[in-house]
Amino acid sequence: MNDNLHQLRCFGCGTRVPRGEAKPDFRCALCGDLFEVEYPGWSQRGGNDRPNAGALKWLWRERRCSNEALDRSGVWRFREMLPILNSFGNAVTLQEGNTPLYHLPRASKALGIDQLFAKHQGMNPTGSFKDTGMTSAMSIARERGFEWVACASTGNTSAAMAAYAARAGLRALVLIPEGKIAWGKLSQAMDYGAVTCQVKTDFDGCLKLLIQVVKEAHIYLLNSVNPYRLEGQKTPAFEIAEAFDWNVPDHLIVPGGNLANSSALGKGFREMKELGLVARVPRISVVQAEGANPLVRSFKNSNGAEIEPVEAHTRATAIRIGNPASWRKAARVIHDTGGWCLDATEAEIAIAKAELGAEGLGCEPASAVTLAGLKKLQARGAIQSGETVVLLLTGHTLKDADYTIDFHRGTLLTDEEKAGRELEIDGLRRNAQAVEATPSAVLATLKGSAG
Ligand code: F0G
Repeated sequence: MNDNLHQLRCFGCGTRVPRGEAKPDFRCALCGDLFEVEYPGWSQRGGNDRPNAGALKWLWRERRCSNEALDRSGVWRFREMLPILNSFGNAVTLQEGNTPLYHLPRASKALGIDQLFAKHQGMNPTGSFKDTGMTSAMSIARERGFEWVACASTGNTSAAMAAYAARAGLRALVLIPEGKIAWGKLSQAMDYGAVTCQVKTDFDGCLKLLIQVVKEAHIYLLNSVNPYRLEGQKTPAFEIAEAFDWNVPDHLIVPGGNLANSSALGKGFREMKELGLVARVPRISVVQAEGANPLVRSFKNSNGAEIEPVEAHTRATAIRIGNPASWRKAARVIHDTGGWCLDATEAEIAIAKAELGAEGLGCEPASAVTLAGLKKLQARGAIQSGETVVLLLTGHTLKDADYTIDFHRGTLLTDEEKAGRELEIDGLRRNAQAVEATPSAVLATLKGSAG
């Protein structure tokens, strides 16, 4: 048994509910805002339930050498920070997390920022950061005896949910916007056995529809409005801190869609600071696509106090979201950590993605907004060359191969989108070439691509 000590606290009005009693849509009955998981025992200094920072650091390192299934998960390795289950035996894991932190030598040199790294969450079992949140929330679904789980998705959540449901022996219902998600992600949901509905609406419409469905049927909602998702998604913060020997980087740059991931990472760093695991937190900045930038507009118009939904358009389909559910939480993270909220154009995203590809890493277009955002922050003087910066890459490059191929073939961007950046874009393109089956023809292509 585990010391299950958590409760849910409304982010808006502060109302607390004992752990299991949230409504099926995870909205507060009083004010309609979202919940956060909190651990009351942690606030009592010297209390029995407050984890000891030094002992935890030692324990978590030890577990890296363990062969126990829970220890091999980069989420449950830190389980003292997410005591949400009655029994850890209910954890559903695919050995998520423990993702690599890569130095970016080319971008470092180009930008003059020596300490520039990418935390590649695309290296998770289903190829995106969603696995870290799915392991925690799916475990709750199993522990509470649900048969069905469901999500609306731009693709990655559905891929992760379908996989974890299959592992847990639960049935999965997926709502996706028809024609607006990358094939790689759709193929995953199908392969892992989800009931997949392509709905004639956008992501925001799918989520709205699903909320009506879960109010009528006994189905566990696994979108990131579910606060248990964020408990798993906060764990990359622990991995990042551990990788820097508990001296956190100066900046963390995260893509923004439904805005749960930035909220979760902010919570992870905040809790580490509260427990004395780290002395400070990084500035957390959120980057959206220019065509799907409601939080950027919110910061411009009301300093993050109010939000107007937008009709979202971007080829970075993962973050094609106009009405983000967790915007209040993300706005608080940006305020509390001294970060920024900014956006990137379609050309900036495509260029940044090709540059990350040229580092030998690659990522989804939605992840590349982080490098595009870094360039802008540096140009504004918000990030100095001596500072340490971590970009959070959220999805694997193979999730959306069509985007990459279109970029390298030169068919991705319109002339208007490319305007003024044609040379830069052409310099990054590496189209496949048709070559005769002779050595001389192959060698001739080498000469043609010298330099
Ligand atoms: N990057 C990728 C690759 C994503 O799939 C998402 C969100 C984000 C960034 C943004 O994260 O929503 O927490 O701000 N994808 C969701 C999905 C919406 O359905 O897969 P966020």
